[in-house]
Amino acid sequence: MRCIADTARAPGSDAFRSLAPSVELRGFKGKDVPTISRIVADALHEHYDPGLYPSLSQQWPEGFLVATNPSDQPIGFLLGVSQVEGEARILMFAVDRPWRNRGVGTRLMDAFFVRARARALRRATLEVRVSNATAIRFYTRYEFSVTDLLRGYYSDGENGYQMARPL
Ligand SMILES: CC(C)(COP(=O)(O)OP(=O)(O)OC[C@H]1O[C@@H](n2cnc3c(N)ncnc32)[C@H](O)[C@@H]1OP(=O)(O)O)[C@@H](O)C(=O)NCCC(=O)NCCS
Repeated sequence: MRCIADTARAPGSDAFRSLAPSVELRGFKGKDVPTISRIVADALHEHYDPGLYPSLSQQWPEGFLVATNPSDQPIGFLLGVSQVEGEARILMFAVDRPWRNRGVGTRLMDAFFVRARARALRRATLEVRVSNATAIRFYTRYEFSVTDLLRGYYSDGENGYQMARPL
């Protein structure tokens, strides 16, 4: 599973928009699959089997956070797993384009850290394309640092960074 990111910004997204106070965070629900699949296809350019999301959510339900609009529709999500002792791994993280730069990603990441610490996990890891400056800046703000260069990590041959931070 690779965290593949789109580096292109939506038109007008460079301008900071108003905060999104109407956004709620909750756990993953089965009905989220179509919308999350659309966000993943657009933001991460991946098309996973729809059964992957419920299957991953069963491993650590609290690690799969969904941000929703007032209609309870997903507008972003963070899918974390804990497959290595003591570690949280961020497998997928994306916010739908119209909602970016409004603090939704920050809320997802903050809530994820709370849940990872509640599980007594001590370290968080992730992978990111070396070209994904937006995500790398975001993660650096969260004090993630590069721990490894993953040569040819992505299916199109692009290198990835592994990044990590203590929790
Ligand atoms: C990475 C991603 C999830 C971040 O989500 P987001 O909702 O835009 O994140 P936020 O709005 O919380 O933060 C984005 C920026 O807006 C800024 N911001 C957020 N709220 C703000 C506020 N109230 N005032 C000022 N700035 C604010 C943040 O400081 C942040 O700045 P940074 O670029 O220095 O990190 C999003 O860009 C995305 O989906 N990208 C495509 C998919 C992707 O690359 N995923 C990662 C794969 S590894």
